Amino acid sequence: MRIPLNDLSRIHDPLRKEFTEAFEAVLDAHQYVRGPQITKFELAFAEMTGIANCIGCCNGTVALNAAFKALGLQPGDEVITTPHTWIATAAAATFLGANVVFADTQIGSYLIDPGSVVGKITEKTKGIIAVHLFGQPTDLNELRAIADDHGLWLVEDCAQAHLATYGDSHVGTTGEIATYSFFPGKNLGAIGDAGAMVTNDVKMANTLRELVDHGGKGRHNRIGTNYRLNSIQAAMLAIKLPYLKMWTEERQSIASIYDARFAEIPDLKKPIVRPDRTHVYHQYVVATPQRDALRKVLSDRGVATGIHYPEVLPATPAYRNLGASPESCPVAFSAQSEILSLPVFPGMRKQEVEYVAESICNFFST
Ligand SMILES: Cc1ncc(COP(=O)(O)O)c(C=O)c1O
Repeated sequence: MRIPLNDLSRIHDPLRKEFTEAFEAVLDAHQYVRGPQITKFELAFAEMTGIANCIGCCNGTVALNAAFKALGLQPGDEVITTPHTWIATAAAATFLGANVVFADTQIGSYLIDPGSVVGKITEKTKGIIAVHLFGQPTDLNELRAIADDHGLWLVEDCAQAHLATYGDSHVGTTGEIATYSFFPGKNLGAIGDAGAMVTNDVKMANTLRELVDHGGKGRHNRIGTNYRLNSIQAAMLAIKLPYLKMWTEERQSIASIYDARFAEIPDLKKPIVRPDRTHVYHQYVVATPQRDALRKVLSDRGVATGIHYPEVLPATPAYRNLGASPESCPVAFSAQSEILSLPVFPGMRKQEVEYVAESICNFFST
């Protein structure tokens, strides 16, 4: 059996007719930019995630750029984030001339350790970037309290956590601003690049809207740029949005099958889901010192796996100049050689999930 890490054809093929009609509607109206599809999607996404304002933009990286700009980030300022994330989280701040400081992560959840954040705060620190990695909300109450105690802002990078909840709320409602990616492979993905920023602060929403659209449509109230979401991507996202809850539940039910099947394997670490939150399993990540051997056996059996990510950010050539050593983030550094992402995607068939689980159980029983 061949099982991919993700297979978008399973959810896109049934929607092909709707996609084509929506695409033709944009073509017919010739409103490729600033079309009505954008507001329609922004309002629907804001309602579904329980936030007052959503501003579409062209990807999750520029969403972070605009968020940092709106919060006044300047060259030389420091921001604290996790070393275990996709590079865009940190690079969006570095790109604006800020200095990124990496805190350590927690064992088994791979999320930033709030205790480690406190130890990294200096007089130059301006904000904290929280990442809901793999779809699990990070410790928002603790990070919010640290930010408030030290006069810092908190930005939530929700690129991997659409519809994840923390307490009674969706992610994205605790930070001053939260950002989303709608990269095709994300839990909600466009048919190309797309992203959004969300906030409950209406003044901040106006600033963000101006920043991503030349400082303001009609009147240029500030220096902005063109980071707009386009009409076609917004139309595609609006078609997919009503299915997001169902797709999320599919991911969760695949994860619960894996959880149950792996419960008796002591040498395989399952994802630790921390209390009071829901995990939306953008990735289902296991860990074992035998990672490379397991990966090879799975590959030989046709099961694709991923490593998210092969290096912690301070170990990448992009950030090596910071001189961060494994001692600076020991948990994050040590996780990288053990983690393995298993297939988890809507449309994955029960026999495929069983095949992956069985292959892993067999590996550990021989
Ligand atoms: C955690 C995280 N932050 C930011 C991004 C950047 O999003 P995009 O690829 O839409 O620019 C991604 C997606 O790749 C991500 O996973």
